[in-house]
Amino acid sequence: MTLPYAFTPEGVNEARSTGEPLFHTFLKSREPFEGLLRDHPWLKPPSTRAPLDLEGDHYWNTTTGDQHPDWVGVDLPKPTQSLAQMRSDFDVWGYTLVEEGLSPLQCKKFLSRLLAQAEAEAAIGIDLKTPSGQYVPCLINKGDCFRGAIEHDPEHVQAGPLIEAFLDELLGHGWICHSFLANGADPGGYPQGLHLDQGPLLPWVTEVAPALVNTMFIPQAVDDENGGTLIIPGSHKLIMRAGSAGSIDSVPRPINLKAPAGTLMVFDGRVMHGTGVNRTDQRRFVATMSNVKSWMRQQENWVVSTRPEVIQAASAKLLHRMGMQSLTWGATVEGFGLAARGWAGDRLGNIQKFREAQDRGDYRRVGILNPADAAHLSASDFTLGEVNAWVQSANA
Ligand SMILES: [Fe+2]
Repeated sequence: MTLPYAFTPEGVNEARSTGEPLFHTFLKSREPFEGLLRDHPWLKPPSTRAPLDLEGDHYWNTTTGDQHPDWVGVDLPKPTQSLAQMRSDFDVWGYTLVEEGLSPLQCKKFLSRLLAQAEAEAAIGIDLKTPSGQYVPCLINKGDCFRGAIEHDPEHVQAGPLIEAFLDELLGHGWICHSFLANGADPGGYPQGLHLDQGPLLPWVTEVAPALVNTMFIPQAVDDENGGTLIIPGSHKLIMRAGSAGSIDSVPRPINLKAPAGTLMVFDGRVMHGTGVNRTDQRRFVATMSNVKSWMRQQENWVVSTRPEVIQAASAKLLHRMGMQSLTWGATVEGFGLAARGWAGDRLGNIQKFREAQDRGDYRRVGILNPADAAHLSASDFTLGEVNAWVQSANA
């Protein structure tokens, strides 16, 4: 086959070498971080090939807000159960702390399940190591307390209903779960680079409100000794204002989060944060449930990774939160779900039956067809046809 010259590799390369690519300056700017790291060298992450400098002027050598000279006396968020206070703290500082979000018993169960899982994964050799410590990913498969956390079930998270209502107002009704994983800070580990969890959106900025909101479960008390999360209070507004220009004259110093066991932190996906340095001889875990708009790609691909038993027992809310309720803008299966609103419990858009067919080894997809095939095939020969019939039976 002879291609027109303009469509050949040589022709495409020649065309690309002339003129200016559209949006180049914006898309390749690497801002605001390029400018931030240039102007404020203390923000640079450490080399993991060298011993960690625990003395110098680096973002990880800090302390809690009540002891930090730049923050002492500032009214930073304190654990609260008041929605009015949560709104105010989240707006001004980019995070809020929910007091006794886990009851003492819930907290104990959460932590013991998490520690046992982490230990087992490490002993078996399937642990996910990071420079800071250990991740325990995909918690949905690893204990009913984690399933309950994703559902904001008050049996497992006593503050669940309040946090769910808050997430509804922050992200809009219909948000879904991006991932739920535990982050370890082990003795001798490195701090995470300070980052924004909605950083992949950069250089686009969402100036008015976040596109991602985290709920961090804190099952062990955290402070400046055991690697309490590093956070720059108020940085969500700072970063968004800097945008793609990347120029910020003055960057406030981070603090280590200080919170008692059982606290939940709800924080804005635009706030600068990272795992702190654990200077004790005990491991320290927190667990982060991240949440996004309903059409965004999820960090954890729950549709593939969730255990069949969890899916079979899942409530409509859990299926929705895992992204198994497709809608016009996301997660359709062979077109199933187009025109769906993405509501929990709506058969139109519920893709559970496709996944169950796959688990049985019986997912029959629509492939190449010709009109003559209609003589020996009907809709029920395909999983899509069966699911459509199931939807229609509810409407009958
Ligand atoms: Fe993060």
